[in-house]
Amino acid sequence: MAEFVADASLEEIQRRVSIVDLVSTYVRLKKQGRRFVGLCPFHAEKTPSFSVSPEKGLFYCFGCGVGGNIFTFFMRVERVDFRTAVERLAEKAGVPLTQRRGSSPHDVRNRAYLVHRVAAEYFAMALARPEGRLARSYLTHRGISPELAGRFGLGFCPPGPGLQQALTHAGVSVTEACRWGLLAERTGGGTYPRFGGRVIFPIRNAAGAVVAFAGRAIGDQLPKYMNSPESVVFRKGELLFGLYEACQAIRDSGRVLVVEGYLDVLALVEAGMGEVVATMGTAVTEKHFEILRRLADEVYICFDGDEAGRRAAERAFVVSTKVGVWAQGVFLPAGQDPDSFVRSAGVEAMRQAIANSIPLADFYVDRKAPPPGASVAAKSRVIHEIAEVVGSMPDPVMAQLLVQKAAVRIGVDERFFQLQRRPLITEQPDPQTPTTEGAPWARPEEQTLLAAMAANRQVAQRMASEGVGQLFLTPGLNELAQRITRAWESATESSEFLSELPEDLQGMVSAYLLGAGPLAGVDLVRVANDCVVKLKKRQSRMRLETLKEQLRLAQSQGNEAKVAALRDQLKSLRELLDP
Ligand code: UTP
Ligand code: MN
Repeated sequence: MAEFVADASLEEIQRRVSIVDLVSTYVRLKKQGRRFVGLCPFHAEKTPSFSVSPEKGLFYCFGCGVGGNIFTFFMRVERVDFRTAVERLAEKAGVPLTQRRGSSPHDVRNRAYLVHRVAAEYFAMALARPEGRLARSYLTHRGISPELAGRFGLGFCPPGPGLQQALTHAGVSVTEACRWGLLAERTGGGTYPRFGGRVIFPIRNAAGAVVAFAGRAIGDQLPKYMNSPESVVFRKGELLFGLYEACQAIRDSGRVLVVEGYLDVLALVEAGMGEVVATMGTAVTEKHFEILRRLADEVYICFDGDEAGRRAAERAFVVSTKVGVWAQGVFLPAGQDPDSFVRSAGVEAMRQAIANSIPLADFYVDRKAPPPGASVAAKSRVIHEIAEVVGSMPDPVMAQLLVQKAAVRIGVDERFFQLQRRPLITEQPDPQTPTTEGAPWARPEEQTLLAAMAANRQVAQRMASEGVGQLFLTPGLNELAQRITRAWESATESSEFLSELPEDLQGMVSAYLLGAGPLAGVDLVRVANDCVVKLKKRQSRMRLETLKEQLRLAQSQGNEAKVAALRDQLKSLRELLDP
């Protein structure tokens, strides 16, 4: 249908990229018969209704109705446009794309990926060259092997003009480089590399694209770490350092360990614990928990055993309850971080610390519990505080577990904690998931008719001969109907033009192809005919209104002949509508 679809590379990409592998980067999938199921990444849920069919190369969520193929999935999960999805998946699959026809100049994300890729390659190269000697010895001193540095794409940013030259060479302007925080303007003219003289840690999104950098001072310059500014592709609250690299280990072990620093991740991976990710100088967020919950059965969070660490653990618990995650707290000796701990005590001690972890819920209740003999006021304050947490927990089972723990530990009746509990809200779509624009559906029958046409060739052909291209009243849908009909002329299956359909239709069609959803098991021809009848009726009703208006006009003008003619037309139209 669009020029892009005729491209044979699309099929080639679909053949080479397994939808199960792709989805598994984001969602922990379990095999169930011929399908794979997991928690839907597009809406908040606790029981898996997200289904992937490797045979058909399709996914569909029975919960929120989203569905499609690898391109659709990538577009949604990475929030990129179709072209970008095709390009990035082509790269993954090693399929060369024919020259890009036209471009989407406003795709800032696309640009961001390019700029960061160029910079990352430059930094990695600089680390290997003579100018990177100091950085190399710093990494060695921190116990990071060249292999590990290579795996994480570590680099070095020379202080000179090299970065600007590399970027310019790749067609990146100074303004753009400044915008992504790679270069900065020097007072008095010119620019300098913001990360100059620092060891570089590339920060990747879940798909593996570099979206930001962290630069660590080699000496004791301040700040110790410098980060790229937050941007459309880099939101600290939604990304975890090391997630891309840890994906396989998380899937294999079923658990994930969250630490605080870049070097903590590297030290643990070097010591043989791959299932580790880091927040980046911010507390763990709801979004982080959502990402982790989809990938791992067990979430462990590492804290310093000092008071600051204990306070962080308390906060983390409150956040985790909001997304229904029951995380474990791993407490290290005061003043230690995982990097220093694993180096001084060894990896077995680290494993032991994980084995000794405690549910954050227990930790929280213990920490909150007033000491024996506390005043009524103090007790009541704690009860209110816990009741408030209970009140905002979406999962009734977890809420009840917390209530029980608190009641036992504080020695009061369970009812005290349930005063604020809201009635159970059924699962709602995640408000943070952006709803990309779909078609402006005026009527359900319009949507159903188009989905039936897209799902089945016979239906599309039959509708074409019925003049379906003039039936729709919502702007743009007649064209869409014609596009679907045309697509069937060259396609043998609707999955071939699926990505080109509006999102709601993709969902309905994927569902149908997987034997589910509103169209499953129905006679599509009959459904389509019913829709056509409805739409025709609606057209007639609108025609009726127009005639009435014309009649009023003719009457006011005293045009007897016209009045009579319009009355005739009205009469036959009414009979047609209400036989
Ligand atoms: P730490 O100060 O604990 O650093 O900050 P670290 O990870 O142990 O690093 P090393 O071992 O001294 O090299 C923890 C995290 O806080 C963020 C970074 O993400 C860091 O990994 N941070 C820290 C910054 O963003 N800027 C800073 O100046 C310091
Ligand atoms: Mn450290």
